[in-house]
Amino acid sequence: MRQKAVLAFSGGLDTSVVVKYLQENHDMDVITVTVDVGEGSDQRKIAAKAKKLGVLKHYNIDAKSEFVHKYIHPAIKANALYQKKYCLATSLARPLIAQKVLEVAKKEKAGALAHGCTGKGNDQVRFDVTFASGSSLPIIAPIRDLNLDRATEIEFAKRHGIVIDSVSKKFSIDQNLWGRAIEGGNLEDPYSEPPDDAFIWVKTKNLPDSPRYLEIEFEGGIPIKVDKKEMDPVKLIQYTNQVAGSCGVGTIDHIEDRVVGIKSREVYETPAALCIIEAHSDLEKMVHTKHQNKFKSLVDQEWAWLAYSGLWQDPLKADLDRFIESSQKVVTGTVRLKLYKGGLRVVGRKSRYSLYNQHIATYGEGSAFDQTKAAGFVELWGLQTTEANKLVKQR
Ligand code: ARG
Repeated sequence: MRQKAVLAFSGGLDTSVVVKYLQENHDMDVITVTVDVGEGSDQRKIAAKAKKLGVLKHYNIDAKSEFVHKYIHPAIKANALYQKKYCLATSLARPLIAQKVLEVAKKEKAGALAHGCTGKGNDQVRFDVTFASGSSLPIIAPIRDLNLDRATEIEFAKRHGIVIDSVSKKFSIDQNLWGRAIEGGNLEDPYSEPPDDAFIWVKTKNLPDSPRYLEIEFEGGIPIKVDKKEMDPVKLIQYTNQVAGSCGVGTIDHIEDRVVGIKSREVYETPAALCIIEAHSDLEKMVHTKHQNKFKSLVDQEWAWLAYSGLWQDPLKADLDRFIESSQKVVTGTVRLKLYKGGLRVVGRKSRYSLYNQHIATYGEGSAFDQTKAAGFVELWGLQTTEANKLVKQR
């Protein structure tokens, strides 16, 4: 009996080449797994492609709800933006996809796990580390192992009768509920502006002339209502993507440090992520003490770095998750955003756990803050700084 390999399959060029390669060069039967994380591609078409490649079995797994609950919600609680910009859409989906591949491999008693990642990107790290954390099966990554480039792959595909429909496309895309990454073409020149047709979620022309207000209500750090409407968590993200995108909000263009050391120019559309994280972090500032705010921003940065770097399973991430979770009990309240011609601004926030006290903060009459006490505090607060400066002047 031939051994079985389970492959994370998207239906694109890379993973199609891998199917043939496993069948012919490794003499294995291939089981393909496609995980729907809300990328909007036609799952039936992908299944038909797999069948055409002669796979033993194809699995299609709808993991949208799990993606939101177990990956996006923790990212919101961590205000997760890698290098202050990237909402981690791809980074969050990979450990989930790899986990599903592992589950199928166990069920099917497979002899190997496979993916179609190159050796230049971050995804190989996310797949390999998740695979190796959950099993000791060998990992086959032909694109990386054979150092294949796109031209060689296309040649291989042609020889094996693989239909390629993605090469004619201008950009290489990876998308899911949380965001859309756009790569390739003239975007590889970091000085050239992304053309309008790179964006399909975010409107770039003829934007509305009046502002759109968006109200997001959080409970325990999770968005539960938008525009006063309670929504299923998947719908809430889709709705926010649609509304913010229609106001021109949600494009990101930055230089990113990959795990393997390459600097890359990355372009994203992430309207919901930007609005929700902006609102969430604003609300935290209202309900957390200054000490919590200062420390949590360090934790948040570390969390985003671990998630980006493919270390989703590291015990440190679990430790940080526990800290973050305990900080979210009071992150309940409503934030009002103003979206206007591509701009995004928080214009209001309220919470029953608010530490903001107008009686203390007011410059008006009858403030509860006794400012006469401030002078002594300031003297002690600045004691070492002023002493150090006196010393310098004596030298
Ligand atoms: N740079 C991003 C990341 O590593 C997005 C990559 C998307 N492209 C891809 N082929 N997976 O998470």
